[in-house]
Amino acid sequence: MSAPGSRMDAQSIAGIKQPAAGRLSPAGGVRIAGIDLARPLSPLAKDAVVAALLAHHVVVFPGQALMREQQFAFAANFGEVEAHGAHRGESKRYGVAHVLSNLDADGQPVFRMSRAANYHWHTDKPYHPAPPLLTMLHAVELPPSGGDTEFANLALAYDALPAAAKQRLAGLRVAFRPAFDSSLPGAVHPLVRTHPDTGRKSLYIGNHSTGVLGLPEAAGAALLAELLAHATQPGFVYTHRWRLGDLVMWDNRCLLHRAVANYEVTRHRRVMHRSVVKGTVPC
Ligand SMILES: [Fe+2]
Repeated sequence: MSAPGSRMDAQSIAGIKQPAAGRLSPAGGVRIAGIDLARPLSPLAKDAVVAALLAHHVVVFPGQALMREQQFAFAANFGEVEAHGAHRGESKRYGVAHVLSNLDADGQPVFRMSRAANYHWHTDKPYHPAPPLLTMLHAVELPPSGGDTEFANLALAYDALPAAAKQRLAGLRVAFRPAFDSSLPGAVHPLVRTHPDTGRKSLYIGNHSTGVLGLPEAAGAALLAELLAHATQPGFVYTHRWRLGDLVMWDNRCLLHRAVANYEVTRHRRVMHRSVVKGTVPC
């Protein structure tokens, strides 16, 4: 992904009708209306979306009606879209967004809380050598209320650290391993990563982190927990309250996110279509 030549204010996004865009919180998020993502994206609109993502980290497109293939095609504007693994009745497929839900194999709502559950603050797949650049979800079925997604801005969190803490963190590396199966291979990444498109520094932490290289286990765990508590305080968080048809895309390189079980999870269906765009090695 390359940034356009000049940083654009989301209010001036070219080719998108006004009132088109609005900032959603001090921690991030911007709403872009008046664009139909089912149609091919013009180069101008694509640059505007990229600019909005880089400036606001979370981009909300309300009122979208996308087939899974159309969502995949939209995601492909921003890089190589990952195929998804075979689980929960889904076979491995290319070319379509995959289905993320609170349903079991019989289509019944269930509550799955585990160490790997997306109710924990995390960035997507940090245990990969080159974790995803962005993820997008399209709200297909929602509970009557709740089922929010929260996003924590790790660049703001880093900026807010005292200089001494920044010095202490410089050069540290975090080991990540899949929380759903710690026997699988993991990856080691900088605790403070530099965004490849904006040059901004941010923390790189969250679920699946298992320790800090060179620190005793307890000290590493304590540092990661302290940083997580710092990064997820309300001033750094944008809460997205879903409406049917929302497509939300976010920058995995500078955010944590989590699903919030603030609805009757075992009673109401919550179905999202998900696409993930491959990223680069964090540095
Ligand atoms: Fe996630």
